[in-house]
Amino acid sequence: MSWLSGSQGPGVPTFYIESYGCQMNLADSEIIGGALTERGYRPVAEPETASVILLNTCAIRENAERRVAQRVRQLIAARNDPGRVRIGLAGCMAQHHRDRLLERIPGLDFVVGPDGYRRLGDLLEADDPVAHVRLDPRETYEGIAPLRGEGPRAWVTIMRGCDRFCTFCVVPYVRGRERSLPAEVITTEVRQAVADGYREVVLLGQTVNSYHDGSSDFGELLRNCAAVEGIERVRFTSPHPADMTESAIAAMAECPEVCPYIHLPLQSGSDRILADMERGYTTGQYRALVAKLRSAIDELAISTDIIVGYPGETENDFEATSTLMNEIDFDHAFLFKYSRREATKAWNLEETVSEEEKGARLTRLIEEQERRSAAWNQAFVGRKAEVLVEGNAKRQTGWLAGKNPQFKTVVFEPTRPGLRVGETVPVIIEAAGPHTLRGRELASV
Ligand code: SAH
Ligand code: SF4
Ligand code: F3S
Repeated sequence: MSWLSGSQGPGVPTFYIESYGCQMNLADSEIIGGALTERGYRPVAEPETASVILLNTCAIRENAERRVAQRVRQLIAARNDPGRVRIGLAGCMAQHHRDRLLERIPGLDFVVGPDGYRRLGDLLEADDPVAHVRLDPRETYEGIAPLRGEGPRAWVTIMRGCDRFCTFCVVPYVRGRERSLPAEVITTEVRQAVADGYREVVLLGQTVNSYHDGSSDFGELLRNCAAVEGIERVRFTSPHPADMTESAIAAMAECPEVCPYIHLPLQSGSDRILADMERGYTTGQYRALVAKLRSAIDELAISTDIIVGYPGETENDFEATSTLMNEIDFDHAFLFKYSRREATKAWNLEETVSEEEKGARLTRLIEEQERRSAAWNQAFVGRKAEVLVEGNAKRQTGWLAGKNPQFKTVVFEPTRPGLRVGETVPVIIEAAGPHTLRGRELASV
């Protein structure tokens, strides 16, 4: 047991996880935490006291990988006794580069891909550097209780992998084939989360709405989760525009627990680029879907993802993206410069947009979107919002912070003393910044 940390005393192996990437990865870190806890490890909040340090990584863009490579080298350099502290990489970047990482990063002890976490305990007991990077199309981590964080929100992975193979995207290669968990397993997990004190669940998957377990589709699953006794809010991410069904829209419209918020990645406003990306929808279909969602669901907030500078994106294609983004009027957008990823279909395409031009296009979309987001936020001012309290506000002593149903952060002055995590309180919104709403709790009558 040479990896025991001196600071914890003998017999208490500890672990520290740093997570990168999307919510699916954060949820996986909780599964890793659960698996390690079952093996007798104890979580710690900083690397200094950990006997196992694990970075759960993302491969979606090159800069995500670069950051992790730097961080892991820094941790390895800071370790004064390699025999007592094991350092490893988990997740999508681990899967993307596999055992090559052990050669490239001297001092790294283990590499484990997204389907290998059941083996993690064994990997930690190996004498030599070791990699487990086999994808397993059946792995859903059923039976491993996640080690969840604080706050009222519980993540529940309902499907893993992706079968869409959009040309730019590495996810299908690092997460493997799509698979859904049985609906009863998911509703049991939601019930357990409620019993553990969580008030909100976020159902997760890379194309979460293509969920199907052979008998239930995503719409039915939403209804079943919303019907769990004691659940306050149900959210989900990320739905794929081409997989959005009437059944899911109806469930969103009819279940008050399902929040009026959808993250609907657009990627491009040019039909030619969408076709090149093999996204599976046209701008016309996307527009029609947004119209249908907005007419069915009151006060719906819509956010999106957009990539600029995909190979072949002309000035005209970019203008089409800007025009559509402004026309749809998203209340938030995550905007990215195209990053060429090894193994993807687009890997062999020649890049036609210079780094400088990508930067200019990105800056323009950011400016346009910031104005739109500010206008959306402004529209909440003077209105009442139901805020599910997550904790203390970061910058204002005595104030609390939480989210409204549209997933906007609200910081507010309480009218009753005490921290009330998990309570939903009425707040009158008095001011709006670019990223947060501010207000005052309405005294209950
Ligand atoms: N499953 C989701 C997307 C997951 S990845 C969906 O299909 O909608 C999150 C976002 O990262 C994507 O929506 C896309 O905008 C961005 N992204 C993915 N690959 C990228 C790449 N190679 N370069 C730049 N951005 C990328
Ligand atoms: Fe990637 Fe496309 Fe799958 Fe989303 S749907 S994870 S963008 S391949
Ligand atoms: Fe990144 Fe993997 Fe998520 S590549 S975006 S952490 S699925």
